[in-house]
Amino acid sequence: MIAPLIELNDGRQMPALGFGTYKISGPDAPALIGSAIDAGYRLLDTATRYENEAEVGEAVRASSVPRDDLFVTSKLPGADHGYDAALRSVEGSLERLGLDRLDLFLIHWPQPPIDQYVETWKAFIRMRDEGLVSSIGVSNFLPEHLDRIVDETGVAPAVNQVELHPFLPQHEQRAADARHGTVTQSWTPLGRGTYLLERHEITETADKHARTPAQVVLRWHLQIGAAPIPKSATPERFRSNLDVFDFELDADDLDRIAALETGRRIGGDPVDEVQL
Ligand SMILES: NC(=O)c1ccc[n+]([C@@H]2O[C@H](COP(=O)([O-])OP(=O)(O)OC[C@H]3O[C@@H](n4cnc5c(N)ncnc54)[C@H](OP(=O)(O)O)[C@@H]3O)[C@@H](O)[C@H]2O)c1
Repeated sequence: MIAPLIELNDGRQMPALGFGTYKISGPDAPALIGSAIDAGYRLLDTATRYENEAEVGEAVRASSVPRDDLFVTSKLPGADHGYDAALRSVEGSLERLGLDRLDLFLIHWPQPPIDQYVETWKAFIRMRDEGLVSSIGVSNFLPEHLDRIVDETGVAPAVNQVELHPFLPQHEQRAADARHGTVTQSWTPLGRGTYLLERHEITETADKHARTPAQVVLRWHLQIGAAPIPKSATPERFRSNLDVFDFELDADDLDRIAALETGRRIGGDPVDEVQL
């Protein structure tokens, strides 16, 4: 199965579901990522911090799927905030990937205590104008961070990649993203090994539709208008995670899943996360 494409606010398109690669690295990684492409994944999500851009790039270059049919995302690390540092950073990512352009480059964290994300965003606009990056976006940006970069540059991110799963459905954040025409992309969409997939609200809904718990959760993301990037290093799992475009959760299912909200984050808090 291949995920449908969704429209971005810059006129480009992005797969509605992608392959997360955090913790997929080392000598076996290119073959594993290659088999995810063979399974139908077209979006690969990496980051400088994952230290696997080389492995992702190797898989892309070795694939029989044409480069233009693949969508490669990477992210600028915390230490590379600032205008000049950001311009050097994208060159480094492209070099490690062995590619001449990225489909999407994200500011990994806003790092408000450092307060350089506006200058960084100005560099992102330049990278896009120079064609190094087709689309530019952000990650972990709170509504106030989005408002500020848009006020100061007039350019809204194509994507905001944030922690999002049924425990943390991010109502206000998604509304803020939507106001800017920014697609919300969900990281840790499956709750990363927490007991989310074992909750009876999920397992019973999975039984009802003869699907897996992960498929139910991924379908929930799609139906609330978010674009998930599940990670799995297990071929059977990553194949089934993509097979979510031919069934529909009903209103009762969505209500049951909504009851799982706790509002608690699994990962860092954008207010004070600094990764230098
Ligand atoms: N922008 C950011 O700040 C940020 C932060 C975190 C993550 N991310 C991105 O988001 C991606 C996904 O997030 P994540 O890796 O944190 O967590 P996740 O995708 O929510 O969960 C991954 C975990 O779920 C397991 N899993 C996957 N499919 C499953 C299935 N069908 N059934 C049961 N278990 C399953 C995986 O196990 P196996 O691998 O063993 O199969 C792995 O332990 C990352 O890889 C990364 O690309 C971005």
